Amino acid sequence: MNYKQQILQGIPNELPQKKKYSKTDNHAPKRKDILSVAEKKLAIRNALRYFPKAWHEELIKEFTFELQTYGRIYMYRFKPDYTMYARPISEYPAKTLQAAGIMLMIQNNLDPAVAQHPEELITYGGNGAVFQNWAQYALTMQYLATMTEEQTLHVYSGHPMGLFPSSKEAPRVVVTNGMMIPNYSKPDDWEKYNALGVTQYGQMTAGSYMYIGPQGIVHGTAITVMNAFRKVLQKDETPAGKIFLTAGLGGMSGAQPKAGNIAGCITICAEVNPTAAKKRHEQGWVDELLDDLNKLVSRTQKAIHKKETVSLAFIGNIVSVWEKFDEENIFIHLGSDQTSLHNPWAGGYYPIDLSFDKANTLMSTHPEQFKEEVQRSLRRHVTAIDKHTTKGTYFFDYGNAFLLEASRAGADIKAENNIDFKYPSYVQDILGPMCFDYGFGPFRWVCASGDPQDLQKTDAIALEVMEHIKIDAPEEIQQQMQDNITWIREAENNKLVVGSQARILYADAEGRAKIAEAFNQAIKSKEISAPIVLGRDHHDVSGTDSPFRETSNIYDGSKFTADMAIHNVIGDSFRGATWVSIHNGGGVGWGEVTNGGFGMLLDGSAEASKRLKNMLFYDVNNGISRRSWARNEEAMFAIKREMQRTPELKVTLPNLVEDDLLTNLFD
Ligand SMILES: NC(=O)c1ccc[n+]([C@@H]2O[C@H](COP(=O)([O-])OP(=O)(O)OC[C@H]3O[C@@H](n4cnc5c(N)ncnc54)[C@H](O)[C@@H]3O)[C@@H](O)[C@H]2O)c1
Repeated sequence: MNYKQQILQGIPNELPQKKKYSKTDNHAPKRKDILSVAEKKLAIRNALRYFPKAWHEELIKEFTFELQTYGRIYMYRFKPDYTMYARPISEYPAKTLQAAGIMLMIQNNLDPAVAQHPEELITYGGNGAVFQNWAQYALTMQYLATMTEEQTLHVYSGHPMGLFPSSKEAPRVVVTNGMMIPNYSKPDDWEKYNALGVTQYGQMTAGSYMYIGPQGIVHGTAITVMNAFRKVLQKDETPAGKIFLTAGLGGMSGAQPKAGNIAGCITICAEVNPTAAKKRHEQGWVDELLDDLNKLVSRTQKAIHKKETVSLAFIGNIVSVWEKFDEENIFIHLGSDQTSLHNPWAGGYYPIDLSFDKANTLMSTHPEQFKEEVQRSLRRHVTAIDKHTTKGTYFFDYGNAFLLEASRAGADIKAENNIDFKYPSYVQDILGPMCFDYGFGPFRWVCASGDPQDLQKTDAIALEVMEHIKIDAPEEIQQQMQDNITWIREAENNKLVVGSQARILYADAEGRAKIAEAFNQAIKSKEISAPIVLGRDHHDVSGTDSPFRETSNIYDGSKFTADMAIHNVIGDSFRGATWVSIHNGGGVGWGEVTNGGFGMLLDGSAEASKRLKNMLFYDVNNGISRRSWARNEEAMFAIKREMQRTPELKVTLPNLVEDDLLTNLFD
C-alpha cells in the first residue's frame, strides 16, 4: 500500500505488525505513574475505543505494557511505516488545498529532524504534543484527506472529534489543547488526564502544527540577545569577546548559540543530555562541544582574548558552569536560562549532582525526592547567579518559568517590594517595550512546494517590502525595522532551515499584511510555484496571555486574565484563518498561560487576498489595543498611528492619572 493509500485508510483495515522499540531514538521521559488501578482501566478502555473489538484482546496487553512502562499509551504499533516529513503540497491526497497545507504542517511537526521525541508525537519542550497517540494521527490525516471546503474538523487535544458541516469561509480546522475547567489545571492534572488519554499539552506551536524547527525562535532570540547587549554595553562597544551564558540545547533552547553567533558574542550553553547536544552540533547550531569544565574555562579564556564569535556547548549541568566561572573570575556580560522549567518535575530541569540517567530514573520511581532535588538545585543555581550579578552580569528570565520555579523552591529571588522578581523577564525589559507593544512579532511562512528557490524568492520579496516600509516609518520603530531587514538579508546564509522550507521574520501589522499580499500576488503570477502557509509563533503581540512571559509587561493588573488570547482566536476564526488553535499551557507551563494562533493558506486567489488583510490586521491590533489600554506608552503610540491609517478602527484609549492624585490617597 503506498503512502497516499495509507493516509486515506486512516486506522488500518488489518492489525499492523508490532513495532520494535528503538533504544537509540530520543524518547520522551517515562511519565509519572499517577493513575489508580480503576483509572488505569479507564485509560485502557479509552485507548481501545479507537479500534475494532476483534483486536482488543491483543492490544490490551500492549497498551497495558505501554502505560506501565512509559506512563502513557502512545500506540507505537500504529505509527505509519512511511517516512515522516513535509512533502510538497501536491503530494497530499486531499480534496482541498487548505487541508493539504494542514497535512503538510502536521507531518513537518512530526519529522524526526524537527521533532524532539518523534516516536511519542512530541515536537518540543519535552511535552509539546501534536497528538497523544498514533491513532489520533491516522484518523486526523484521513479526515483531512477526505474533507471538503464545506466542512470543519474539530480537534480536542489531539483527538479528531469529527468533520462538521460549515462553509467555505470557515476555518478548515479548529484545535483546542489542554482546555480545562480552571480548578483542574495543576501540573498533576496534566499528568493524570493526559495519562487517561483525554487531554494533552500542545505547547504553543506543536499542538497547532506551526512549529518550524529552532529557526522559529532564533530570530526572537537574536533580537533579544542583541538588545540585551545594547542595554549593557557602551555605545562604542560591540558584543565581540563578551559572554552570553545560558542552558538548554533542546527544541527551542537550541537556537541560543546560533542567535549568539548572529549577535557576534561568545555563547556558552550547558546541556545535560548528550544526545540533544550532539544533535545540535551535527545540525551546525552550535560550533564546539566540550564535556570537561577545565577545558571549557581555557577555551572560553582563549575566545575572550581573541574576541571570537563562537558558540560552545558544555555537556553537563548549567549550575556547575555558573559556579566554576565565579571561581575562575570569568566575567559574564549576559546570563539567562532555557531549561524546560515549565515542566520541572518530569524532565524539564535536571538537578546538579545527579547524573542524567539517575535523574531520569528518580523522577519516575521517587517523584517526591526528585522534586526536592530540583528545588535544592534551583536554590543553588540562584546563589551562583547572584554572585555574578553582584559583579555586574545582566541576568534575565528567558520565558521558561525560571524565576517562578526558583521562587517556589524558596530561592531568594524576590525584589524588595516582595511583588516582583529581582531579575527582569526578557519581555519586561526587551521584547515587550521594544517589539510587542509596537506590534512586532514572529510572523512566519512555509513554502508548500518544498522548493528552496521559492523560499529565496519570498526572502527577496519580504526584504523589498520591509525596505519600502522603512522609508516612511517613524523614528520609534526604525531600529526594529533595521534589525529585521538585516535578519532577512542574512537569513539564507545563516542556514536556518530544518524540515519544511520555512522562514520567520519579525514584522508589525503593516509589514505582515504587505508581505503576505506580495506573496499572494507572486503565487498568482506563478513567480512562486505553489501556495504558502502563513502563521506565527503564539509567543506574540496578541495570541498569548502569560503573566510571567508575553504579558509580563502589562501593569494594570490584567496580566492574570486571558480575555485577549480568547478574543484573538475567535476573532481570527471568522476573519479568514484556515485553522485556529487555543491552548492551556505552553512556554511557561500548564495552568500558567492561555495561548492561541492560526494558520492561513495563500493560494494566489482574490479570496486569499481579502482574508489576509482582514485577519492579519485584527490578529496584531487586538493585542496592541489591550497593551494600550494597559497604559503601555509604546502601544498607545502604535494604536493611535493605526487609527490614523485605518479610519474604521476605533479603539478605547486610556486617560492617564497624575501620580500626585494617588500619592496620599489611603494614608
Ligand atoms: N522566551 C522564549 O522565547 C522561549 C523560547 C523558547 C523556549 N522557551 C522556554 O525555554 C524552555 C526550553 O524550551 P525547549 O523547547 O528548548 O525545551 P527542551 O526540553 O527541548 O530543552 C531544554 C533542555 O534543557 C536541558 N536541561 C535541563 N536541565 C538542565 C540543566 N540543569 N543543565 C543543563 N541543561 C539542562 C534539557 O536536557 C533539554 O535538552 C521552555 O520552558 C520554553 O517554554 C522560551
